[in-house]
Amino acid sequence: MERVRVSPNVFLPMPVVLVGTRLGSRANFMPVGWCCRANLAPPMLCCGIHRAHATPTGIRETGTFSVNVPSAAQMEATDYCGLVSGAGVDKSEVFEVAWGELGSAPMIADCPVAMECRVVEIVSLPSHDLVIGEIVAAYADPAVLRDGRVEMDAVDPLVLTMPDNTYRSLGDERGRAWSAGQGLKAERGG
Ligand SMILES: Cc1cc2nc3c(=O)[nH]c(=O)nc-3n(C[C@H](O)[C@H](O)[C@H](O)COP(=O)(O)O)c2cc1C
Repeated sequence: MERVRVSPNVFLPMPVVLVGTRLGSRANFMPVGWCCRANLAPPMLCCGIHRAHATPTGIRETGTFSVNVPSAAQMEATDYCGLVSGAGVDKSEVFEVAWGELGSAPMIADCPVAMECRVVEIVSLPSHDLVIGEIVAAYADPAVLRDGRVEMDAVDPLVLTMPDNTYRSLGDERGRAWSAGQGLKAERGG
């Protein structure tokens, strides 16, 4: 295969989440594509958040934040939250807000999945804060549960691709993870 060098600013396909924080007394939400699970037990995740945004202030002040998974039906409101900053615009009424056991991490009542997180560590990178949080509680709309587990097809999450800055949906199922390679493993050993 021929290969050429490209910009090192290469992006992976990303889940789109809304990070919720309390700014002063009001709820604030920002979309984040740079979010992934970081630890199994206790369950942790991490988000890369630019320090110029209002959200890091709320996270540092409360030591908590929420991660909400919007469905594709919530794309317009999600994108709006990425166009304006809580520093100058009140975003607290874009969604119906729900407060959980932490009391300081506003969640979005209508997102099919929402998590409350307590900050474990914030790693200051040159432009972004890598915020690592423990998921202390998670909530789901019963309509997206199958046998008590979240069914991603029912959630219908948004997937963000860059550099084309496009929201997409989940694609077709292609195979089972930890299973698709079993034939090769049997052939090659290990
Ligand atoms: C789809 C989408 C994904 C985004 N992902 C990130 C991200 O991962 N990290 C980040 O720092 N900003 C990201 N942004 C930009 C912020 O969401 C945006 O600047 C927002 O207005 C900041 O809000 P705040 O100032 O109220 O915190 C994203 C924006 C959009 C639309």
